[in-house]
Amino acid sequence: MVKISKSEFERRRQRLMALMEPNSIAIVPAAREQMRSRDTEYPFRQDSDFHYLCGFPEPDAVLVLVPGRGHGEFVLFCRERDPKLELWHGYRAGPEGACAEYGADDAFPIGDIDDILPGLIEGRDRVYYSMGRSADFDRRIMAWVNLIRSKESSGAVPPGEFTDLDHMLHDLRLKKSAAELRLLARAGEITARAHCRAMRHARPGVFEYQLEAELLHEFATGGARHPAYPCIVGSGPNSCILHYTGNGRALRKGDLVLIDAGCEYQGYAADVTRTFPVGGHFNRQQRAIYSLVLEAQQAAIEAVRPGNHWNAPHEATVDVITRGLRDLGLLQGDVQELIAAEAYKEFYMHRAGHWLGLDVHDVGDYRVAGEWRQLEAGMVLTVEPGIYIAPGNTRVAPRWRGIGVRIEDDVVVTESGCRVLTDGVPRQPEAIEALMAAG
Ligand code: GLY
Ligand code: MN
Ligand code: MN
Repeated sequence: MVKISKSEFERRRQRLMALMEPNSIAIVPAAREQMRSRDTEYPFRQDSDFHYLCGFPEPDAVLVLVPGRGHGEFVLFCRERDPKLELWHGYRAGPEGACAEYGADDAFPIGDIDDILPGLIEGRDRVYYSMGRSADFDRRIMAWVNLIRSKESSGAVPPGEFTDLDHMLHDLRLKKSAAELRLLARAGEITARAHCRAMRHARPGVFEYQLEAELLHEFATGGARHPAYPCIVGSGPNSCILHYTGNGRALRKGDLVLIDAGCEYQGYAADVTRTFPVGGHFNRQQRAIYSLVLEAQQAAIEAVRPGNHWNAPHEATVDVITRGLRDLGLLQGDVQELIAAEAYKEFYMHRAGHWLGLDVHDVGDYRVAGEWRQLEAGMVLTVEPGIYIAPGNTRVAPRWRGIGVRIEDDVVVTESGCRVLTDGVPRQPEAIEALMAAG
């Protein structure tokens, strides 16, 4: 099984500590359990930043990095072992396991954090943490600092600087390691298989949620128990609702079905969209729109290469889509003027992609010093143009209305261009028709 090694987690912490100012400390809390109903929780998912730095899979934990600390730089607070609770809820590593299994230099029970952490902060000039993400955690940081301040007359030295950790940490997360790329590729393979399966199951009378069930089946069978985000299965007019998740309509012959779904594998997301016809054949208008989106996607993928900036793929899609909509008579006028007026936004109202990684909309700045970021090998992004003609759009002839098409793939920037991680599911209309016919 592909996994992030203990030494890679260690390297990540070292890289972060190398970026921190001298005599500082970083504090990163684990995710908390979230209630779903009364006394029942949602499946626990670890916070991506916390996971990135240590891989510790439990809630009620806090990671602390103290560069240069004699007794160890990586300190973890976590739940203690508890045979009775473990009988009900499963294994806990406990402080000993945190050291033995996750490489912590020093670990303490989470219940002791108020007594111990102020001592680790005391004397440090600067505290890094993710500010404003959790009002509760902001308050706890201030309580720890105030405790130190209350002892100033006895010589305690509180920190004077507080710095948001996100910028530095998210810059590290933006460029993926070889092991991360293997996990993202695996998420892409499982997801591609799931889309193929859903296409084969699509026929009139099947409900959108039944296609969702096929996707989830393939995810779980592949070792990815959770989707990276709620599955979007939109048929007919629902294909025009960008974040549709109702998934309750029965498919009708002649509909398009837009499926946007991706699994999460070992914490890493896939994000894939395919659009296909119920009954197995695109009609003339559907094919025209589909071909245009595919052409836009191809142009964008060709623009993903080192040296190009983040917005180059988006600009490529705007160019192809505006020209194509004009040629089909859905927009009228000069292409450059239509682009300048953003006329395409009536049909293409989102951007061509986003970073992808532990989070489906992954972290990392899109602009650096006011300029679009340059693409570099190891960055991973989606390429996902779409055209959506609202069912109620009376500006266009009725035959066009209710057509929604998005095609989305995950790509990694390489030294010479890019590699598509999700091409296990066809994109060419003929290949989709053939797959559906074989189903
Ligand atoms: N699945 C959400 C997106 O494509 O960004
Ligand atoms: Mn998507
Ligand atoms: Mn996406």
